[in-house]
Amino acid sequence: MHAGSFSTMPSLSEAFLSHPVHLHHKLPDLNSLQELPDTYAWTQHDDDHHHTSYPNSNPFPAVGESTVPVIDLNDPNATKLIGHACKSWGVFQVVNHGVPMSLFNEIQRVGQALFSLPLHHKLKAARSPDGVSGYGRARISSFFPKLMWSECFTIFESPLEHFLQLWPQDHSKYCDIVVQYEEAMRKLAGKLMCLVLASLGISNKDLKWAGPRGEFNEACAALHLNSYPSCPDPDRAMGLAPHTDSTLLTILYQNNISGLQVLREGAGWVTVPPTPGGLVVNMGDLLHILSNGLYRSVLHRVLVNRTQQRFSVAYLYGPPANVQISPHVKLIGPSRPALYRPVTWNEYLGTKAKHFNKALSLVQLCASINSLPQNHSVQVG
Ligand code: OGA
Ligand code: NI
Repeated sequence: MHAGSFSTMPSLSEAFLSHPVHLHHKLPDLNSLQELPDTYAWTQHDDDHHHTSYPNSNPFPAVGESTVPVIDLNDPNATKLIGHACKSWGVFQVVNHGVPMSLFNEIQRVGQALFSLPLHHKLKAARSPDGVSGYGRARISSFFPKLMWSECFTIFESPLEHFLQLWPQDHSKYCDIVVQYEEAMRKLAGKLMCLVLASLGISNKDLKWAGPRGEFNEACAALHLNSYPSCPDPDRAMGLAPHTDSTLLTILYQNNISGLQVLREGAGWVTVPPTPGGLVVNMGDLLHILSNGLYRSVLHRVLVNRTQQRFSVAYLYGPPANVQISPHVKLIGPSRPALYRPVTWNEYLGTKAKHFNKALSLVQLCASINSLPQNHSVQVG
């Protein structure tokens, strides 16, 4: 398969466009609020959406390490360590990943410049009601009864159009940094995909869409610049509500302020502490499907704090929008049937936009599998 073969397929942004998530509330200026409005005050049940069921996978034995594994990509054992982390956590941090610290500082400067503009100015780059890129709330906002204490700027490929609105003079220096960052993430994501696949006993050559040299040139991606302003009442606020990503994998840069938490069964919400120069890598729903449930897409959320603004950049990485993703043949067999039906990213985004955290169970093949003992060698039928 070569680069031209996907040219008639919709791009990822078109896929998002065909499944708009409607955002019903007007954005206030979070930085000017002295008190938490009721619409932002979460109670225990407001995030109930996270009751996702995971078929036939590890029950997360609450044993072993209680912090998200940090993996050195130069470690000769990296593949094995990644496999273990994916199986037991669905998330890990990487260091020695080859992305220079200066790039994180630069992308953070872009975010800082962007989010510190006055609200009316930011709204010049607002996501249109049915649009996908630009400034606005988190896309998942419409699934929850309460609002989230965050702002998000979504980028597909080039931010030029919106950056021209924000910075008529200076747009090109900001654009260059974003493009450089995307380039670095694309490279790293390809490398991580190879490692994750290798840990499953799959070669990137076993995936048609990875290309002849397994370089994943046709992969699609989006970038989220997220800002979580300091909050007058952090205990009742939610930065980003519990969700899984619809990606294969997501690479997250968080500045030195904590807030990200992942759900670990048996242990509850576990904070992912910022690691200098480190990146958080979490499995998404499509990798969960591809791995036939062996590597679960991890549920995560973001909390806010009273004094410091938190900033993060999420690189959302997936296959070409119209390529079918299904449990890999090497991972299915008589004792472990395919748990999910084939689905394209495009179609999956549609299911997610409608059913949110239930989307994964809706592409599940055999609902009764839930009641089976949670063991990989279980016999079915
Ligand atoms: C996301 C996300 C986490 C963070 O953008 O999907 O989960 O720390 N972000 O901002
Ligand atoms: Ni996420």
